[in-house]
Amino acid sequence: MEVFDKIDELLKEILSLQPASADELEQFRIRFLGSKNIIKPLFAEMRNVEASQKKSFGQSLNNLKEKAEEKYNSIKGSLNGQDGSAQNLDIDLSLPSIPDPLGSRHPVSIIMNRVINIFEKIGFGVEEEREIEDDWHNFTAMNTPEDHPARDMQDTFYLKNSTKYLLRTHTSSVQARVMTSQKPPIRIIAPGRVYRNETVSARSHCQFHQVEGLYIDKNVSFADMKQTLLYFAREMYGAETRIRLRPSFFPFTEPSAEMDVYWGLKTELDHKITKGTGWLEILGCGMVDPNVLKNCGIDPEVYTGYAFGMGIERQAMLKYKIGDIRLLFENDVRFLKQFSSTI
Ligand code: PHE
Repeated sequence: MEVFDKIDELLKEILSLQPASADELEQFRIRFLGSKNIIKPLFAEMRNVEASQKKSFGQSLNNLKEKAEEKYNSIKGSLNGQDGSAQNLDIDLSLPSIPDPLGSRHPVSIIMNRVINIFEKIGFGVEEEREIEDDWHNFTAMNTPEDHPARDMQDTFYLKNSTKYLLRTHTSSVQARVMTSQKPPIRIIAPGRVYRNETVSARSHCQFHQVEGLYIDKNVSFADMKQTLLYFAREMYGAETRIRLRPSFFPFTEPSAEMDVYWGLKTELDHKITKGTGWLEILGCGMVDPNVLKNCGIDPEVYTGYAFGMGIERQAMLKYKIGDIRLLFENDVRFLKQFSSTI
């Protein structure tokens, strides 16, 4: 019968056609699947087909349609995989790749590492200790009496439901940790983060970093301390750097002092940051109080020692002319990547 022949003919055509471009594929679509496709009129022939053949006629026509759709979809897929892909995904594969951004050290880490290196060169070991500390190591052992204002709930972050555990307010707590677990001679520095319940502003923050130093041995003198700190200042701030020690008070050192380095008074900024004196305060220090040695089980009749503690943020701010301490804790990449050339 003629229509069956027609179906056969179209089937052969569909199977043999291989549209090789988007244009040819579109021609194929219009001919076999478009709204005026060539298969459609054949369905109308159904009424002329003998009853016994209606079923197989319908099946052949549907098969024809399916074969056309299959071919169309598979050719479309393979064309997309070739030249179609770049256009469709809107990327240019010939462009160089986006480079992985190189990280950089945080300015606080840069300064901290410099301080550590300077003291390591003269034999100080590094001790890292816990930031959640107990009251004894942070205050009591350090000769800070119960009614000392530093223990005030306003100054210190205590853990919830506990007046025993707190976030250490200074790295001096490491002095107590080391003196109760090691025997003299002790020669360590302790870098780390400390916390105080202060209002956050451009000048102060509730978290910052310190480096503590502790040296305990027989016959350690104030002169040893001064010479060590002079060495540090000259390594850190230049070979000509001058220092001065001003009498001060800390509960855990006796006598106590604060060390200034001479910064200069050349520019207006120098006047501002040194409050017109030319001197900048860098650290607190002193001879370890005999009470502290006793509290930690070291005989003050046999051993003496010195300790010092310095803040890191202020030194970083001076070196890099950072006007607001909060920048150091915001993790803004635009700020941090400015230090990428420094190691
Ligand atoms: N812990 C003191 C502070 O935080 C600094 C200090 C350390 C002073 C060691 C003397 C000796 O201010």
